[in-house]
Amino acid sequence: MAAPVDEQDEREFIKQGAEAKVFRETFYGRPCISKERFSKAYRHASLDKTLTFQRLKSEIRAMNKCRLLGIPVPCLFHVNTATSTFYMEEITNSQTVRDYIVNMQKFHPDKAIEKLRPLAKKIGRLLGKMHAGKVIHGDLTTSNMLLRGDPENLDIVMIDFGLSFSEGLPEDKGVDLYVFERALLSTHPNTEELFTEVMESYRQENGEEAQEVIGKLDEVRMRGRKRTMVG
Ligand SMILES: Nc1ncnc2c1ncn2[C@@H]1O[C@H](COP(=O)(O)OP(=O)(O)OP(=O)(O)O)[C@@H](O)[C@H]1O
Ligand SMILES: [Mg+2]
Repeated sequence: MAAPVDEQDEREFIKQGAEAKVFRETFYGRPCISKERFSKAYRHASLDKTLTFQRLKSEIRAMNKCRLLGIPVPCLFHVNTATSTFYMEEITNSQTVRDYIVNMQKFHPDKAIEKLRPLAKKIGRLLGKMHAGKVIHGDLTTSNMLLRGDPENLDIVMIDFGLSFSEGLPEDKGVDLYVFERALLSTHPNTEELFTEVMESYRQENGEEAQEVIGKLDEVRMRGRKRTMVG
């Protein structure tokens, strides 16, 4: 079968994470991002293959599920299991939520929190919807959320679902939110109020289960704190 991408060699390397390389290219003329999972030399070969396939499968499943739930994710173009690569729409004219917050805090230090409140509300609604739809993201950070177009429109696109899984328990949801809280507060100083805002709209979106999830979040926080005190 011919390669699905227009020019295999003309892909532009964007970044290498712990488990995957990300490239920009075109897919039948469309702006495309490809994500290729690579083997880890220290893992046993067959275990490595299984894990790599698992991650690929999780990422694709979660993206499809989010689409059905009405949570914006890049459109999936193609999957090549032989090379553990998938091809998706490039969200053009976008920036990461991380960059948006960093710049807001840099250029509007006094008004940043007020200006970011609507964004935090929107994130909370999306996470509530995702959890209500039984998707656990697994790596919630501000780099894994893209703001498409004019950031004031709050058109958030979720990415990077390689660690996701579905049918999660309240505990899993609590951990998911804890990961996000840590990521937010450690990347962006003085954003505690924003996390409170996230949780406020999460609660509204996720209905009955939210209270239980928040209870679990509190437990996970306590455990985290104990660990830092001991360790
Ligand atoms: N569909 C997309 N459209 C536009 N940009 C994208 C897209 N997918 C990924 N990116 C960009 O590439 C970066 C890395 O992608 P992704 O988070 O999926 O990979 P990763 O290797 O898991 O990264 P990390 O280690 O930072 O979590 C994103 O933060 C984003 O800037
Ligand atoms: Mg990422």
